[in-house]
Amino acid sequence: MAAVVAFVSQKGGPGKSTLARALAREGAASGLKVKLADLDLQQGTSLDWSRTRLQFGIEPSISVEAFSTAAKALAVADQYDLLVIDGPARASAGTLEIAKASDLIIQPSGASLDDLRPAVKLFHELVKAGIPLERLAIALNHVATDAEEADARAYVGQAGYAVLAGCLVERPLYRQAQNGGFAVTEAKHARLRERADVLIQSIVNRIAA
Ligand SMILES: Nc1ncnc2c1ncn2[C@@H]1O[C@H](COP(=O)(O)OP(=O)(O)O)[C@@H](O)[C@H]1O
Ligand SMILES: [Mg+2]
Repeated sequence: MAAVVAFVSQKGGPGKSTLARALAREGAASGLKVKLADLDLQQGTSLDWSRTRLQFGIEPSISVEAFSTAAKALAVADQYDLLVIDGPARASAGTLEIAKASDLIIQPSGASLDDLRPAVKLFHELVKAGIPLERLAIALNHVATDAEEADARAYVGQAGYAVLAGCLVERPLYRQAQNGGFAVTEAKHARLRERADVLIQSIVNRIAA
């Protein structure tokens, strides 16, 4: 049975697809059999990304497939070591179904209170619905400064949730990488790759723990 890691949020744009692709890429590069399940049927951006990746012949190739529900993705999980769920920007029921199916639920968030407050609220709802606290973690993205990162960590910590080590700074090169079918861990700039690596590695460590 695969380890199941889901990226969820009610908002669009915090980085669900970005981080899901990077985790799938790093898992595949380390020799795991990985499936990236795109549950954002309306947008299907990870499916598009995988086509671009295929077109440019980027290795390792990553198996991406669209599923309408988490249950349908789970049905194929036993064929893989790692199932990465790229969730839709949507609320409640769908997110809870995904969370129930997952060993680790990661919510990317920007560092502003406008982003963090709803993120914490969603985690509160999941805990209330019976999802164990230990399975939840925030991943900080679109960060500008160290001070901003520190403030965001403090806020989430106070709310009682884990924040993954590392964060992604806001950089056009991360967008460019993905435009070309690469993951953020394959960005052109070594420092940016390393940054992304720290964040993704903290997810890998949690799966392994
Ligand atoms: N750290 C970053 N720096 C610059 N652009 C980013 C960063 N993270 C994500 N993006 C871009 O922001 C947009 C939204 O990210 P995406 O991962 O698609 O979010 P979601 O899947 O949560 O809606 C995409 O264009 C993506 O390339
Ligand atoms: Mg997305």
